[in-house]
Amino acid sequence: MTTIPVSPATFHISDKIASSVYEGLLSKPKWLPSWLFYDSAGSRLFEEITRTPEYYVTRTERAILEERASEIVAQAAGQNALRLVELGAGSAEKTRLLLSAAVERQDTVFYEPVDVSASALIEAQMRIEEEIPGVLVCPRVEDYTHNLELDSTLPSERRLVLYIGSSIGNFEPGESLMLLERVRAALDPGDCLLLGVDLVKDEAVLHAAYDDAAGVTAAFNRNVLVRLNRELDADFHPETFAHRAVWNAAESRMEMHLVSETKQTVWLPAIDLRVEFAAGESIHTENSYKYQPGHAEAWLAKAGFVHEATWTDERGWFAVCLARAV
Ligand code: AVJ
Repeated sequence: MTTIPVSPATFHISDKIASSVYEGLLSKPKWLPSWLFYDSAGSRLFEEITRTPEYYVTRTERAILEERASEIVAQAAGQNALRLVELGAGSAEKTRLLLSAAVERQDTVFYEPVDVSASALIEAQMRIEEEIPGVLVCPRVEDYTHNLELDSTLPSERRLVLYIGSSIGNFEPGESLMLLERVRAALDPGDCLLLGVDLVKDEAVLHAAYDDAAGVTAAFNRNVLVRLNRELDADFHPETFAHRAVWNAAESRMEMHLVSETKQTVWLPAIDLRVEFAAGESIHTENSYKYQPGHAEAWLAKAGFVHEATWTDERGWFAVCLARAV
């Protein structure tokens, strides 16, 4: 009789990780889902990316919100009180700008962050309730990419859903439309969505943003292999995979890849998978779609919103769109 060794990691991995890694690494070309980046090390590395000089995304959106937060909040609220909902646990500083603008208009602001990570939500709750008196945080643990249910509102309240940070850029076009439709379905007529989208720009600017000189983005990309080593007991040598960022003009997206520098075999015992790499073969790890001006507004209309306003920076690099559910 043979005994099948079971790796201890088997008991800790979620089926979602196991099944998508299995599917992605057996595909041709190989891919891994970009949500795998965000374990705790990956989330820290992303924060570090936002501070690199090349990554214009976060600071451009922040500058727009710094200038426009009260205008955005006033337009969304009209004569009503606002309740802020955020998809993702809170891009700290940027959310704070909108929450602070809202507490200037009303005594109490309910803030409902929606995220899959309970620890990220608790962290956001403590931070925000401490920093902005008047904000009451009502966290909701939910995977908004599959399901979205929100607390009900009073007749005098309107929701403002924040989907900022260009997070929508990681979804394929069909998926992002479905996501906007799902958000619309969770809202009542009169509620608003604030959507942050990154715009098409000079290729050199895009490329530098996804391949910074200090190598933070490269470390972020390779961290996905470190994660698979830990969680699936894999034996990747992350340093043998080169970080590559490419602009795919036909699809209007930045792509990130990990390119195997040598011919090698990787073993992932937790999912019983052996993967062969040819020298130069890549794993496609991320798409970050960039929008043409007016594009996001058209998608919002398809999803059942009426577009009300778009704010952008002088260079036209990033757009923040306000749309109302009808
Ligand atoms: C968090 C999805 C907005 O696509 O720009 C940063 C992630 N990837 N550098 C983006 C990311 C590489 C980021 N988003």
